[in-house]
Amino acid sequence: MKKHILVVPGDGIGQEVTAVGKKVLERIAEKFNHEFTYDEALIGHVAIEATGNPLPDETLEKMRASDAVLFGAVGHPKYDNDPSAKVRPEQGLLKMRKELGLYANLRPIKLFDELLSASSIKPEILKGSDILFFRELTGDIYFGEKGRKDDGNTAYDIASYSTYEVERIARKAFDAAMTRGKKLMSVDKANVLETSRLWREVVQRVALEYPEVTVEHQFVDSAAMLLIKDPRRFDVVVTANLFGDILTDEASQIAGSMGMLASASIGDGTGVYEPIHGSAHDITGMGVANPMASVLSAALLLDISFGLKEESDAIINAVDLVLKSGMRTRDIADANTPAYLLMGTEAAGEALLKFL
Ligand code: IPM
Ligand code: MN
Repeated sequence: MKKHILVVPGDGIGQEVTAVGKKVLERIAEKFNHEFTYDEALIGHVAIEATGNPLPDETLEKMRASDAVLFGAVGHPKYDNDPSAKVRPEQGLLKMRKELGLYANLRPIKLFDELLSASSIKPEILKGSDILFFRELTGDIYFGEKGRKDDGNTAYDIASYSTYEVERIARKAFDAAMTRGKKLMSVDKANVLETSRLWREVVQRVALEYPEVTVEHQFVDSAAMLLIKDPRRFDVVVTANLFGDILTDEASQIAGSMGMLASASIGDGTGVYEPIHGSAHDITGMGVANPMASVLSAALLLDISFGLKEESDAIINAVDLVLKSGMRTRDIADANTPAYLLMGTEAAGEALLKFL
């Protein structure tokens, strides 16, 4: 198969982990006789430094022209401590999502058995958890009108959803539920928010097309509680942009670490695959970041954008074998991990390539 992949590492540890993700893709191409070509582009803080723009037109054009994007992370502490900054790395990410029509963000929360003890949740509560989040990604309070009034003393962000926006993400989630445990939880705040009442109405209507799927509606506060109390009751979850952002960070603790979680953003055109973790400037340049999330994002890319299931499974299997070998990056290590099994980003990459 001939495919063109755009690598967009972005900021902080995005650079380090994406380099490993790309190596894994190269090895897969070799092993399975595919011809993958690559290009690179800038986004986020590195793009601001180079061009003044967090998402240069050139990057967007390259994204549109590629078959898939392997993405790193965006962000820089400089902006976090300066709320008045007008140009921010995250604007690049949000604009990319909007411009590419990436309305569905899939975040699989899969717990590798070897990591049962890496979580702060009791193993007997966790064992067997397997959740697939569908986070709506191009609407909600993220993209509504925002601003200040009263001489800057009042701020507002408007949340809005249209029937069409809810329908298309709901269908994606129902379709996925049909291929899994046929259970879908829709998360909203319909006791308070009008957008959530529309959300619930639409999900109820779409549910009629999927009589085999058992649907449960939960308010977001209760869903947040249930995730920790009983993660196994979750199968497919569909929710709005902001709720999905928050709940998936929470759910990452089911998998042991944010460093293990991949995501796929799909929609109208090119799909974008990225770790759910951020740029992590506290550990940038130290060579200790866990590259598994990027590697598992590459696996999602092969499966979803290219339909290469066997190749994708080979990557997941290699990740499993590295974990079974006992090697751990420090985010998934525990008190029982001997020093000689602690690995950095590059060592993790080498171990993966070896098992592949
Ligand atoms: C994510 C991130 C982004 C988001 C930030 C960096 C804007 O947290 O992809 O989850 O909030 O969507
Ligand atoms: Mn987030």
